[in-house]
Amino acid sequence: MPAAIRIENLQFRWKPTLPIILNIEFLEFETGETIFIKGPSGSGKTTLLNLIGGVLEPFKGKLEVLGQNFIGMSHRERDKIRGDNMGFIFQQFNLMPYLTVLENIMLPIEFSAQRRKRLNDMNISSIDEAKRLLGHLMMKVEEVISKPVTELSVGQQQRVAVARALIAQPSLIIADEPTSALDADARESFIKTLFQECKSVGSTLVFVSHDSQLGKYFDRQIDLTQINTAYRPVSL
Ligand SMILES: Nc1ncnc2c1ncn2[C@@H]1O[C@H](COP(=O)(O)OP(=O)(O)OP(=O)(O)O)[C@@H](O)[C@H]1O
Ligand SMILES: [Mg+2]
Repeated sequence: MPAAIRIENLQFRWKPTLPIILNIEFLEFETGETIFIKGPSGSGKTTLLNLIGGVLEPFKGKLEVLGQNFIGMSHRERDKIRGDNMGFIFQQFNLMPYLTVLENIMLPIEFSAQRRKRLNDMNISSIDEAKRLLGHLMMKVEEVISKPVTELSVGQQQRVAVARALIAQPSLIIADEPTSALDADARESFIKTLFQECKSVGSTLVFVSHDSQLGKYFDRQIDLTQINTAYRPVSL
């Protein structure tokens, strides 16, 4: 089985005039592994996730994701790989405010023929899959499914964002602070659901959080301040 993600001497800077803020010599995630990444604010967690997700382009180095070399690849090609194979849970959910819960969850399916095919092959309708995920995430499905997402609480919106990321079994789930809007009980059941979904599909999970308490649930924990040699803590 090839590694899900392989990074060698990866460097990133926001602009040619700005310093390098991310420099990682080596990092490899196995397929199906659950990985917890921690680090203080500004240490580059979101930047690393956006590089892995193909949203940002590295300045130098090697970056292979799901067996594909991202270096030198066009934006469009990376977008396609992400659309077909990745579920993203953003730090600010990025739900579409004018759409309902169901419409939000279905968005990734509309943009990817491969996802539609996967559901088809499993003989599951996309609506049933959306409902199954919402139920699994402890939502009152019939009550919320047709509501605009703006009428949900923040914790509910976070779960809709998760259902959207999990729909049609992407092989890589990337989660940026997905538990920040949940209370302690909801957090634990949320993580369990996320793990069950990932394990049953064999998806790799890369999960970022400040909350180092959550680290113990994962196969592996990574402290970004240890592996990002470009990181300089703010001196007071
Ligand atoms: N769009 C941008 N343009 C320029 N610099 C940026 C941009 N976004 C982030 N940065 C800088 O890049 C560095 C890493 O930021 P990043 O968002 O990856 O940190 P983080 O670890 O996710 O922090 P947090 O825990 O606050 O989310 C920071 O120094 C930040 O100021
Ligand atoms: Mg961040």
